[in-house]
Amino acid sequence: MSRSLLITNARAVTLAGPTSPRTGPALQDLAILPRADILIENGLIASISPSPLPTPHSPPPSSTIDAAGRVLLPAFIDCHSHACWAGDRIDEWQRKLRGVPYLEILKSGGGIMSTVRAVRAASESQLRELLDLRLNAMLRCGSATVEVKSGYGLSTAAELKMLRVIRTAADHAARSTGQTVIPTALLGHAIDPDIPNFVDTVINETLPAVHAEFPGITIDAFCEQGAWSLADCLRLFDRALSLGHPLRIHADQFNSLGMIPEAIRRHARSVDHLEASTEADLDLLAASDSFGVILPACGFHVDGRYAKVRRFLDRGGKLALATNYNPGSAPTPSIPFAMALAARHGGLSIPETFHAAISNPANLLNLSDRAQITPGMRADLLLLRTTDERSLAYEVGHSPIDSIFIAGRPL
Ligand code: NIG
Repeated sequence: MSRSLLITNARAVTLAGPTSPRTGPALQDLAILPRADILIENGLIASISPSPLPTPHSPPPSSTIDAAGRVLLPAFIDCHSHACWAGDRIDEWQRKLRGVPYLEILKSGGGIMSTVRAVRAASESQLRELLDLRLNAMLRCGSATVEVKSGYGLSTAAELKMLRVIRTAADHAARSTGQTVIPTALLGHAIDPDIPNFVDTVINETLPAVHAEFPGITIDAFCEQGAWSLADCLRLFDRALSLGHPLRIHADQFNSLGMIPEAIRRHARSVDHLEASTEADLDLLAASDSFGVILPACGFHVDGRYAKVRRFLDRGGKLALATNYNPGSAPTPSIPFAMALAARHGGLSIPETFHAAISNPANLLNLSDRAQITPGMRADLLLLRTTDERSLAYEVGHSPIDSIFIAGRPL
């Protein structure tokens, strides 16, 4: 039987427009209808109208919600997370509070490597249970679509274990809540000193094994001092490209090692972090077909440094923002919190935070069936208990999200 839902009298932040990346002045336009009726049928937006839809409907909608005094908008798309992990890093965080830098902790065998040890020790079902909890936390914060990276396995067996867990959780989420989960293989996250010729092993053994089981999956690496060098990243990326894998890259988080021009040359889907990028590199990125992704929760949790992207945006750069949900640098599942930080510290206008959290990550993840309230789009929607959508970036430590709909179904 067909399901339908009519939402009446909503202030609709439709984000209507092209499914191509939004850049420049288009980022200021949220395509708002101050009062709209939205009909949802079989999980999709069937119609949206600024004037009341004719009644009675035929057939009548299965349910109706009067959204007077509330804002309706497309759900968030969190395009960068490490939500699959075991253990915690709270002791390490206390060391960080006492002034020990993130890269120093990594160098001494902690940081990412401490989570790697916990992930290797965890069973698939333990990891799966933890991931399910975090996916749910992300969903409750309004993220109907999330990307989840591996990268805490590092050995071939443990990376495959992580990717299988993410795939199983994705299948389960699609069937239960309807949340969409997209895996990324973060094969170059750290260097494991206990695996001889680690980089060669990743390139010659882990990558082919991942390719065989997850053909076409996006490959990622962390280009940083004490993690993967520029040269080693490029070896991994060139091999991955030859096998038909798209690329995403963690670059310039603490140090600029020259990755941006190389990423652009390789048509990376995105370069993520950018806190330490040079102005010249950001100008190159703005002129390229790669996205920049900012992860401002890192600045909040790690050391107060934020990517500054005002000039990048003014030069037409394609920008997304994400939580980076992980135990070491960004322990938050909340896109609204990332929006709040991006507006305060990244140089984004408030409308830009919406496009960076919704329309642009949809394009980055090749999802052209969502991220706007227009006919034919998936009805992944958020209803806010406020008349002003700017509350999303304004309020902190509290969420104005009232209800979440995934493919038209209330959570
Ligand atoms: O993007 N920097 C690399 N990866 C994550 C942090 C992972 C961790 O510290 O466990 C990031 O910040």
